[in-house]
Amino acid sequence: MEYQNLRVNGRRLQESLEEMARIGATEGGGVHRLALSEEDKQARDLFVKWLQEIGLKVTIDDMGNIFGRRPGKKDDLPSVMCGSHIDTQPKGGRFDGILGVMGGLEVLRTLNDNEIETLRSIVVANWTNEEGTRFSPPMAGSGVWTGKLDKHWIYDRTDMQGKKFGEELERIGYKGNILSKPDPIYAYFEYHIEQGPVLEKENMIIGAPEGIVGMRWCDVYVSGTANQVGPTPMEGRNDALCAAAEMILTINALPQKMGGNMVATVGEIHNFPNSRNIIPDHVHFTVDIRSWDDDRSQSAWIDAKENFQAIANRRGCSVRIEETWQVDHMPFDQRLVTRVLDTAQQLGYPVLKMRSGAGHDAGYLSMVAPTAMIFVPSIGGRSHVEVENTKWEDCESGANVLLQCMLQCAIEA
Ligand code: GLV
Ligand code: MN
Ligand code: MN
Repeated sequence: MEYQNLRVNGRRLQESLEEMARIGATEGGGVHRLALSEEDKQARDLFVKWLQEIGLKVTIDDMGNIFGRRPGKKDDLPSVMCGSHIDTQPKGGRFDGILGVMGGLEVLRTLNDNEIETLRSIVVANWTNEEGTRFSPPMAGSGVWTGKLDKHWIYDRTDMQGKKFGEELERIGYKGNILSKPDPIYAYFEYHIEQGPVLEKENMIIGAPEGIVGMRWCDVYVSGTANQVGPTPMEGRNDALCAAAEMILTINALPQKMGGNMVATVGEIHNFPNSRNIIPDHVHFTVDIRSWDDDRSQSAWIDAKENFQAIANRRGCSVRIEETWQVDHMPFDQRLVTRVLDTAQQLGYPVLKMRSGAGHDAGYLSMVAPTAMIFVPSIGGRSHVEVENTKWEDCESGANVLLQCMLQCAIEA
């Protein structure tokens, strides 16, 4: 390794993360920075300012994806890219997503400090709406950029207040005028917290995922009959909430029935009219099914739909199922995964090959470019919560692996 002694500035990375964590800071120590919100805009503005301060060319595409580019000596060669996301979950954490964006910025700052010229250009990206919580589906920015999601479908997606993605993107001033489409990429790395318990339990500092599990998302709408709760006998009711409750338990039971390390979750539910003395007549809930085994996920999904219909029939309700989004499991590039493993070892960090149960923009990137990820431990395995935490020294270690991996790729012909 020509630059094997080069290291990032861990203190500066920490300060950048701390400054970003102030945008949308919650009382519980987390961050609430939903996609295309005022807070998302503020954090984007700061990111763009920091990119410009180190002389990078900044471009914004019509999905609001932000790219900071440091030219290489042979600029026409496919570039080396890293990225992640600025948006968070509602009352989410200070590391999910932003670590990979600030980690990429720190890599570029380090290259500048040391006046290192690379053969290939290096790009750091912020992908729009990775979380998919305000607007589903997730990974919308990278999904469109890679040609896997339809831009106009995404523009029309609405949040719970009925606001459209496209209008909100324009409102915050991040609907750029460049068409969202992939540039030739030699290697894509995404640096992220693990969001699970494995690395901590195994006393590892770096995780090298071989890919991401497949994911299926759907929206379920159950309809029944509203009525006054007092005079209406229990017999003959069409209670949409009771039907939904039964359906939710069948989802919870799916992984054990199906096997294959599946997980299945109902995380969001809306009950109407939501009054204690009216029998509910409409319920909307979401389903998230994940597994590395795509066939098993498919069977689970068929099973779930049959159960929903049977429960609705038995309770005199109707059910409408919207299959919102799905991706099969996404394997990464073996050569780059090996590069992450070898680099971590050379730097003296215990490293583990694993799989990602969380979705990442790297999933879509892996469909158009050689891709790998770098994980660092999540304290207590907690993520998507305000107490989400990772040791500062681990943040620095992961950024060093990112630096070395990107640099190796950027100097090879
Ligand atoms: C993204 O954060 C996901 O795994 O749902
Ligand atoms: Mn994330
Ligand atoms: Mn997340």
